Amino acid sequence: MLDRKALLLDEVRKYHREAQPDRPFVPGVTEIWPSGAVLDENDRAALVEAALDMRIAAGISSRRFESAFARRMKRRKAHLTNSGSSANLLAVSALTSHVLGDRRLRPGDEVITVAAGFPTTVNPILQNGLIPVFVDVELGTYNTTAERVAQAIGPRTRAIIVAHALGNPFQATEIAQLADEHDLFLIEDNCDAVGSVYDGRLTGTFGQLSTVSFYPAHHLAMGEGGCVLTGDLVLARVVESLRDWGRDCWCEPGESNKCLKRFDYQMGNLPAGYDHKYIFSHVGYNLKGTDLQAALGLSQLGHLDEFCAARRRNWRRLRDGLQDVPHLLLPEATPRSDPSWFGFILTVDPEAPFSRAELVDFLENRKIGTRRLFAGNLTRHPAYIGQPQRVVGELTNSDIITEQTFWVGVYPALTDEMIDYVVTSIRDFVRDRG
Ligand SMILES: Cc1ncc(COP(=O)(O)O)c(C=O)c1O
Repeated sequence: MLDRKALLLDEVRKYHREAQPDRPFVPGVTEIWPSGAVLDENDRAALVEAALDMRIAAGISSRRFESAFARRMKRRKAHLTNSGSSANLLAVSALTSHVLGDRRLRPGDEVITVAAGFPTTVNPILQNGLIPVFVDVELGTYNTTAERVAQAIGPRTRAIIVAHALGNPFQATEIAQLADEHDLFLIEDNCDAVGSVYDGRLTGTFGQLSTVSFYPAHHLAMGEGGCVLTGDLVLARVVESLRDWGRDCWCEPGESNKCLKRFDYQMGNLPAGYDHKYIFSHVGYNLKGTDLQAALGLSQLGHLDEFCAARRRNWRRLRDGLQDVPHLLLPEATPRSDPSWFGFILTVDPEAPFSRAELVDFLENRKIGTRRLFAGNLTRHPAYIGQPQRVVGELTNSDIITEQTFWVGVYPALTDEMIDYVVTSIRDFVRDRG
């Protein structure tokens, strides 16, 4: 049986080599994706092996991934989820838990966030009956600042949730300190920034909670998938409970009576001894991942250092190549940071003799994929108009981002040749239009 499996997996590796032969790069014909999963024959074999073992729910690989990833990210606990958006939902929802006593967030409490970013950083605030407080970001780093956050703190402000923009760390030390001084929770949306460093410390280790996405555009790919990380064991249990239907018991599916008190609890208005497996202490969800995802994640994790290095290399090559191009605002790493970049972000000067649309069209016609800084100014989207919110100051830069900004890829599958073609294309366009 084992031999048969080894043979099958060997065939899978061969299949991988045949299915994905190295193809030469043809400028203007080969698609240069802005992002994508980088999957090798071992990743494919890991996924198929999990399928051969029929590990279709969360199990041993999920647990192994959680502990390996927590160690790698320097947090005590990691909880695998079915997406980064679910991870954000869990992180914010955890702050509303009764377990936190007086510190818990209650409906109407405020959570500071940025206007320009991804919707599901913000949505859990509204989904929990909390009020988002939007602040603007800077052009160049595309992050907000501790100063802007400080200005937004009001009497009902209880938490901050901000993403490290496109992998570029926000001022995490300063914002964590501010949170500390004002007794606010800090959640880092680290979905786009795995491996980024600020003040010599990994992003995702500054707040009480941080989140990661494993959607293929991200640093590690599981198909769909995400993770909540924390150094706080109380919050970890709340996250787990909320993720796993709201149950109070922490036995893994398939395990029972790890606490040796399974039939000894009395909680709520339940009869004494009610099976702890079916006692629910939170109004929860089911947002678990599966072992198929985790098996792929474990295999991908082995590549993390090389992936982050490639992202940094590609970003640097673009940055150096475009250094002196007029009419474009080039990205800047936040001072004291070493970003593990998600993309290379550019803002077209509003006074430029060409528009963003013209430049983007030109690049797309050359098969160079472009993306926006996600939603741009979220408050302008139909979903958020009329929602409870507070806006602090003008959202001028978020508006500029909505109108003038886009990004191109730096993900590890991009070769020097591809990056050089992107540089040449942008230079050609600006020279001809400038
Ligand atoms: C900053 C940020 N947060 C959250 C998410 C959501 O992750 P997912 O697509 O896994 O739900 C994304 C997705 O790209 C993101 O960029």
